[in-house]
Amino acid sequence: LENGVARTPPMGWNSWNTFGCNISESLIKQMADAIVNSGLRDLGYQYVVVDDCWMNSTRDSSGNLQANSSRFPSGMKALGDYLHGKGLKFGIYQAPLDKTCAQYFNSYPGATGAQGHETQDARQFAAWGVDYLKYDWCSPSGTIDDQVRTFAKMRDALAATGRPILYSINSNSVHDKTGPRRNWGDIANIWRTTEDITNKWDTGQTNGYPMGIQNIVNVTVPLASYAKPGQFNDPDMMEIGRGGMTDTEMRSHFALWAVMASPLIMGNDVRSMDTATQTILKNQNLIAINQDTLGLQATQISNDGTRRVLAKKLSNGDVAVALFNQSANTTTISTTTSAIGLSGSSFTLRDAWTNATTNTTGTITASVPAHATVVYRVSGGTSPTPEPTPTVTPTPTPTP
Ligand code: GLA
Repeated sequence: LENGVARTPPMGWNSWNTFGCNISESLIKQMADAIVNSGLRDLGYQYVVVDDCWMNSTRDSSGNLQANSSRFPSGMKALGDYLHGKGLKFGIYQAPLDKTCAQYFNSYPGATGAQGHETQDARQFAAWGVDYLKYDWCSPSGTIDDQVRTFAKMRDALAATGRPILYSINSNSVHDKTGPRRNWGDIANIWRTTEDITNKWDTGQTNGYPMGIQNIVNVTVPLASYAKPGQFNDPDMMEIGRGGMTDTEMRSHFALWAVMASPLIMGNDVRSMDTATQTILKNQNLIAINQDTLGLQATQISNDGTRRVLAKKLSNGDVAVALFNQSANTTTISTTTSAIGLSGSSFTLRDAWTNATTNTTGTITASVPAHATVVYRVSGGTSPTPEPTPTVTPTPTPTP
């Protein structure tokens, strides 16, 4: 969507994975403070997204949405101001039909979805200083045409406010178990590719509830051609730092999200991160690969069911290559510089995890532990032989 935002995948934090409906303004403020104090904001994590359950169960007498008055007593404008004051951006959740997902599913009271209130809600969000809207279908009914019409309605309502608001949609929740049935890039900046993520490596789902990391990767990799600046596949919020996976699996999760040009939206409690979690979320090599201005998603070079190779072209001519071991045993994964689209005879590989560099004439190979992903940034060729320094001859003063 060409609305000026999401030129690279959005980075930030969302309340849902850890807190569900147990959110409040003090919790969100604590999270914002932690994002700043831990250095995450300065690494690019800027959107703080308040997910479902921030609303009162009824609209006011003019039909306006209201913040839940006991948990957000200062209101959403004040929260947005707080976030902006911290150099962060403000995200909020709404659903396009009659109910939000928690109203539909988790017996959260009310039916305050945007249906029939699209313009009013968009204006309200803009007036509160919202920078990011997560708009979640959450209904078992509706054809693809209904979804297109309905998601486009909010796209247009947001555009009409004049405020640049990143538009994040989910057509899948409680609806479609097959992945996105179209490229949503004409309608939204990011769109969910699957049902909800959980903090497990593999839940055995092809696309149902809940999805493990491996399962989401399987659905999202084939959608690479949809991604470009302004529009990205969204394989859901990250589960790093939430338990349920080994450190290797969490590193793999981050590496794969990075090369898939996925939104990097943290889902953990950033007030209490262990060292492994911080090291992963703060990996600047992978963040740079994810945030590369070409905005391309890695394409699959090979996959034999065990060894998967993905390559992402970068703006300076480098290529990021991910060697992903899907099996439960250590294995060697190999590819070549020509297979990932580079020509030449001398290359440098920088390991995104260790920062170590090695040289190669073309072979790219690594021993990759079970469920691990090795990422190399591949730079083409040795630096050219330096030109001889030209001797500077002073320009003679012209004689008249
Ligand atoms: C759906 C979405 C989740 C979250 C919940 C909130 O399940 O996919 O990401 O927003 O709704 O109820």
